[in-house]
Formats: sequence, C-alpha cells, structure tokens
Amino acid sequence: MKRDLRDIAARFAFDAPVAGIESLGAGFINDTFRIRTAGAGPDYILQRKNREIFRDVPAMMENIRKVTEHIRRRVEAAGGDPEREAMRIVPTREGALCHTDDGGEYWTAAQFIEGAKSYDRADTPALARKGGEGIGRFQSQLSDFTEPLTPTIPGFHDIRHRFAQWDAALARDAAGRCGRVRAEIDRIEARRDEMLRYHRLTETGEIPVRVTHNDTKISNILFDDAGEVLCVIDLDTVMNSPALNDFGDAIRSYANTGAEDDPHTGRVGLSPEMFAAYAEGYLSVRARELTQAEIDRLAFSARYITCEQVLRFLMDYIDGDRYYKTAYDEHNLVRARAQYALLCDMERRYDDMCATIDRIARRYRER
Ligand SMILES: Nc1ncnc2c1ncn2[C@@H]1O[C@H](COP(=O)(O)OP(=O)(O)O)[C@@H](O)[C@H]1O
Ligand SMILES: [Mg+2]
Repeated sequence: MKRDLRDIAARFAFDAPVAGIESLGAGFINDTFRIRTAGAGPDYILQRKNREIFRDVPAMMENIRKVTEHIRRRVEAAGGDPEREAMRIVPTREGALCHTDDGGEYWTAAQFIEGAKSYDRADTPALARKGGEGIGRFQSQLSDFTEPLTPTIPGFHDIRHRFAQWDAALARDAAGRCGRVRAEIDRIEARRDEMLRYHRLTETGEIPVRVTHNDTKISNILFDDAGEVLCVIDLDTVMNSPALNDFGDAIRSYANTGAEDDPHTGRVGLSPEMFAAYAEGYLSVRARELTQAEIDRLAFSARYITCEQVLRFLMDYIDGDRYYKTAYDEHNLVRARAQYALLCDMERRYDDMCATIDRIARRYRER
C-alpha cells in the first residue's frame, strides 16, 4: 500500500519530492493522507474520494476548483492570507484535477494547511458559535459566486424528491417492515403538507438559492492557534441550494443533547444554549446579507432538515437497510425514533427558537 501511495503521489504536481506519507485516518467518506515533502515547501493532502457516494468525481472536483479559487480571490481582496484561509487544489502533472488509478479509484490533492487545529465535536457553546461563524463566512465569501455548479448529490434536501422516494418505498415494502412501523409512518405523513409548503418557497424563488457547503460539521472547519476560523474544508458536497439548509443541518447535529442514534430518546432534545450560540456565530456574519424571508425561516429550517432525516432513516429501514451502514438490526429504526424525538422537541420550542433568531438578527442588523 505504501508503495502504491508513493506512485499515486508521484502523479501530482507537488513542488518538492515526497519524504513521507501518513494516514490521517479513514474518514466516514474519504481516505485522507498527509504527504510530507523534503525542504521548505508545503506539505500536501492526498485523498481517495468515495466513488460510491460521489458518482462524478471529476465534476465534483471542478466545483471545488471554482469555489476555492473564488474564495482565494475574496481572501486576497480582504487582505487575508490566501495560503491559510483558502484551500488550494493541486492538479496532476498532466493538469487534471484527479488521478484515476488502475482499480478505478479517484485520487485528489490539496495543499496542507500548516499548524491548523480542528475539532471532532462541537460540545461547548463557544465552539458552536465558531462553527456558525465558519459556515457563515464560507457562505458570505460565495455570496457573489455565479458560476454553474454540478449537483454532486441530486435531490439533496429536496423534500418533494424525498417524498417521491418515500411513496415508492412504502408501495414496495421491500423488507416487509411497513406493518411494524405504522405509527412512525403516520408521523411523517402528518408533516408532509407543512414540509412541502416550506419547500415551495424555494421553488417559487421567495427563498433564494445560494451556494451551500452541505456538510457543516465542526471537523470540516480549520482554526488557527488563537482559535479563530481559518477556512472551511471538505468541499465535496458544495452545491446550489438555499442557505437555510446549512443552518438547519448544523442545528440538527450541533444542538442535539443526545446522539443521532440515541437508543434513549429521553436524552435527545434541542439545547437552547447551543442553538443560540450557533445562531449567534452565523448571524454575526450573515444577518445583513440574508433576506428577511430567510431570517424568518431559520428556525423552521432545523425542523425541515430534521424531519427529512427522520424520513430518510425510516425509509431506509423500510427498504431493508440499503443506504446507511447499520451496526445492528434495528439501527435505522432507532435512528428514526431518535431524530423524531429531536424534531418533537424543536416543535415544542419553536416559538422560543424564532424569538432567539429575531433578537440576534436585529442586533446585528442595527450595527
Ligand atoms: N488542506 C488541509 N490542510 C490541513 N488538514 C486537512 C486538509 N484537508 C483535510 N485535512 C484534515 O483531514 C481531515 C479529513 O479531511 P476531509 O476532507 O474532511 O475528509 P472526510 O470527507 O473524510 O471528512 C480533516 O478533518 C482535517 O483534519
Ligand atoms: Mg470531513
């Protein structure tokens, strides 16, 4: 494997010879390696992209190239350090954005950002706030980006598309499990209309389509020594969609007091502190750039994304666990129930969530 990795690394246009290769751990999605180089030049990141999830890796890399170059220009214009505040994609020696090996695997490279810190979990309000700031800044840097992007995961967060899949899955009942989860199915059906109503705002243009990250976890944000945001990485899922999707998905994960697959639903709920902290960080950057229609839907976006996740886990359970990896038999059902508990808590706290957003947004808009 080491030898193969060296051969693969040799394909890329690195500035200096490769001195060593270390695994940065097999992530959920991609396998990532650090390429150490001899001399004073930068180190690099080498990644094997997951071709099961991303069907068109070259198109995905073209998205990433455009977006990172745009961010680099914005950082330069703002007098920042483009080598630390923007990712730099490194092409192959032939000038391609990815290398395909003999086994058909896709490899890509980027400059390693030296001395950056990252966190596995956002478990304090201070870190949640930084997460919101990081994603806010990322969206803001791309607010004037107008080039076309290929949808890497078509239909992502499109509830109309999800309901079409859902209807088909219920009709198929492939694993013969529908009968067992009638109550859970009804919970989704009870929310179908309100979710489609929200989604319609994005179809009519009342809620604008922007550039979103779509994987907002804290491990995808790099920080400097002082704990300030450097840049957002892991851009595989950059797509055009409403900014609200990134906010809602971040709240779904950052502000959950339990685990995504918590078997004890009593532990699951929305933390008002974490919600307010993330919103504070996000709106500190975005309050004056978002439309009022968007600000008014931020709280609901968390319900929307969480409801979609309940639907997706339950649908996969009904389908016989084909999409999500499961650790045990009823895992997808446990996940669906845990996310449903989160959704219910968001519904209970909804008026407070709206008031929190309103208060924070006003504060930043008046500045
Ligand atoms: N350009 C980079 N500079 C420094 N560290 C990086 C860089 N790219 C990735 N990393 C590190 O590698 C980890 C995994 O990379 P990432 O692109 O997020 O892969 P995955 O899709 O598997 O999450 C990141 O969390 C980060 O710690
Ligand atoms: Mg990542």
